[in-house]
Amino acid sequence: MICETFPTEDALAATLGRLVVDAVRRQPSIVLGLPTGRTPIALYGELIGLTREESIDWSGVRTFNLDEFVGLSRADHGSYRAFMDTHLFDHVNVDPRHIGFPDGRAPDLAAECDRYEREIARARGIDLLVLGIGANGHIGFNEPADALAARTHVARLDEETRAGNTLWFDGDLRRVPHEALTMGMATILAARAIVLMATGEAKADAVRAMLDGGVTTRLPASFLQLHPQVRVMLDEPLAAAIRPL
Ligand code: PGA
Repeated sequence: MICETFPTEDALAATLGRLVVDAVRRQPSIVLGLPTGRTPIALYGELIGLTREESIDWSGVRTFNLDEFVGLSRADHGSYRAFMDTHLFDHVNVDPRHIGFPDGRAPDLAAECDRYEREIARARGIDLLVLGIGANGHIGFNEPADALAARTHVARLDEETRAGNTLWFDGDLRRVPHEALTMGMATILAARAIVLMATGEAKADAVRAMLDGGVTTRLPASFLQLHPQVRVMLDEPLAAAIRPL
């Protein structure tokens, strides 16, 4: 894994935004895998800014998001789909038919997971997948466990993860769903290129274990060591917190 450190999260977002926009320009029909969360907000701001300044055309781009809460749809303020509309999709000319999302309100969730996998396969897989990481080492909603699921599945969220998501539910933990649909480890590892972004010292232990520990289901991000093309982008506060070890 290539690992780079940036002085601030804004500097990180500027470099990653440039990387994504250049990739879209090079390959107008690129298939992007996209994350939600606090960390990518600055990235999406960069993408919107660069798109305006440089007239970037998103009409051929396909996107697949990593995950969505069970029971929520884009009409729900706390859904990840609503997050993506607010932070990216409403501001670029991506074709709504090219936006891939697992449907958290599907009546048959197992069938919905299969549908999502088929949709990704039909798009011939993900060219560039941007990931965050949880303080517990999760990627997507693949939480630490004795065994991990390979494909898109219904995941039970760790309490730590639910607590980290109260931001999208007006600070009310009771409203944070207990389950989510998420790409599985094989879905993620099948992406042709992966960039993982992480900021802030709270993620230092997870990032250190991801970079230097063994590959273990107890730290799902460690599986990225098995992938040939992963770039890890950190901010200085996070990197400083792992340096002494
Ligand atoms: P965060 O989430 O950006 O809100 O910290 C990242 C993640 O859990 O993958």
